[in-house]
Amino acid sequence: MCGIVGYIGTKKASPILINGLLKLEYRGYDSAGISTMEKDSISVMKDKGRVKNLYDLEGINDLKGTVGIAHTRWATHGKPSKENSHPHLDNSNTFCVVHNGIIENYNDLRTFLKDNGYEFYSETDTEVIPNLISYYYKKGNDFLKSVNLACNDLKGSYAIEVICKDMPENMIVARKDSPLVIGKSDDEIFVSSDIPALISFTNTFYFLNDNEIAYISKDNIKFYDNNLNEVSKELTTVELSANSADKDGFEDYMLKEIYEQPKAIRETIGTSLNGSKINFEGLNLTKEYLSKINKIYMVACGTAMHAGLGVKSNFETLCNIPVIVEVASEFRYRNPLIDENTLCIYISQSGETADTIAALKLAKSKGAKTIAITNVIESSITREADYFVYTHAGPEIAVASTKAYTSQLVLLNIMALYFAEILESSTESRIDNIKKEILKLPEKAEEILKDITNIKNIAHEIHSKKTMFYLGRGIDYSVAMEGALKLKEISYIFSEAYPSGELKHGPIALIEKGTSVINILTNSTLVEKSLSNIQEVVTRGATCIIITNQDFDISNFENVIKIPEISALLSPILSVIPLQLLAYYITKEKGLDVDKPRNLAKSVTVE
Ligand code: G6P
Repeated sequence: MCGIVGYIGTKKASPILINGLLKLEYRGYDSAGISTMEKDSISVMKDKGRVKNLYDLEGINDLKGTVGIAHTRWATHGKPSKENSHPHLDNSNTFCVVHNGIIENYNDLRTFLKDNGYEFYSETDTEVIPNLISYYYKKGNDFLKSVNLACNDLKGSYAIEVICKDMPENMIVARKDSPLVIGKSDDEIFVSSDIPALISFTNTFYFLNDNEIAYISKDNIKFYDNNLNEVSKELTTVELSANSADKDGFEDYMLKEIYEQPKAIRETIGTSLNGSKINFEGLNLTKEYLSKINKIYMVACGTAMHAGLGVKSNFETLCNIPVIVEVASEFRYRNPLIDENTLCIYISQSGETADTIAALKLAKSKGAKTIAITNVIESSITREADYFVYTHAGPEIAVASTKAYTSQLVLLNIMALYFAEILESSTESRIDNIKKEILKLPEKAEEILKDITNIKNIAHEIHSKKTMFYLGRGIDYSVAMEGALKLKEISYIFSEAYPSGELKHGPIALIEKGTSVINILTNSTLVEKSLSNIQEVVTRGATCIIITNQDFDISNFENVIKIPEISALLSPILSVIPLQLLAYYITKEKGLDVDKPRNLAKSVTVE
């Protein structure tokens, strides 16, 4: 999704802005642009295409300004084109704006501005913002007041940076439901959509809340609420190493992140299982509260939602509380049955997903307690939830989520045990056995990654297929869904997950000679049943790939990927790894960009 970067300091802004944009590339985008404050005017350089193309734009090296704003655009209103790229100027070239988010009432504002003599040169919703600011400025308001009045007219979501020709030393930034951080070093201020883009410049940050505005000069920042009352803010130091987002010798981020899973799992477990009772930093839920819970909603999008599906049964079995897993974009608009005895858990790698945050706000407004699980320190969701807990996967750059998913599963399983301990809803020995198994997960993940020749060979064999099915029963079905998502995201092969038992109710009609069917089989009680399903597709000519930790006669099957033994409850954390690798190597065979698949964004900050 769109990314924004800003700089005010003593150095030439343009290289810093472009460098920042390169770090935000992983979010997904189709156009890029920068704007700097030059001697008497604002200079804008932008085009569709990659950030590195900015280096080729005529005159970019002549920009001398030390104040600037920059943007990567992921098209929502209007196709990718130079005109629609940000930054956008107002009609008088006095204000220049970059914007992340969606202005829902832009049509009304455009009509209003047109009636007042303004013209528009792009199809974007954003272009109303500099013109609206200009409208208020011409009425005699100063820079800050004009931005404030314009923001109060906007409906929807925004993180904006604004520079003004008449105030060449300043910048104003504001946010509502869209991410924005401000980094500060001695005599420089940096602005960005996320911390990793700035971590090589500074590790101290201010975080804006919704509806707040910051008025920035190189040695001073003032913060205001939407009535322009000044608010004070603490500078927060963030521990994140600058090279944690490098490729570390791997060909792509996705492969690196797949291989980082043992470490990510280990760090997510952290010290939580060291004592006799689980230590869950950040949560202090009482037995009295937990006993009253009538149901748990787990709400998320994409891979994070699959993590919810992967722990649903474990929560229900261990804690005796019904769990409903829902897609955030559905949940937020369907008036779910929530009261003060409902616990809502939101899972989000980025902590910025617009639908997930909106779904959280909905539950809060209905009196439920909310817990956010996120991988990004100080992300927006942490400011909205009653409680938050971090997964410790480290920065995830590849669009297709891998280590965040396994870390979410680990964390959620520990949370289920934590609830069960407080509630005394499961026996001590059962809880202890699961804890021991969790502690062995990093080693077992390493074992899978040690020799992946078999997976590479299978990828080579099946990479030209047009369709693939993923089958599983119970918890294996949740992993089948994640495997199918990984494949379609990056290889563009149509893939569909089905519960094995549903095969006969439709999908078997599509099975013919050469169809690939990937089966996940980790539950000893369901082996026989699943094998008969597999036999049914083999009989019809399908190529079957089986991922299993079970013992059965494999002589009838050509492609079996063995994974280490683990109880069914925790099996998704291991069985997903071959599926991630399969998707990765199939995509490499097809010669596609695994890290930046078409049309997708890492951080979906608009709905
Ligand atoms: C996008 C990403 C997915 C991710 C989903 C939810 O679709 O491409 O990888 O699973 O958003 O993101 P979140 O940051 O909320 O986990």
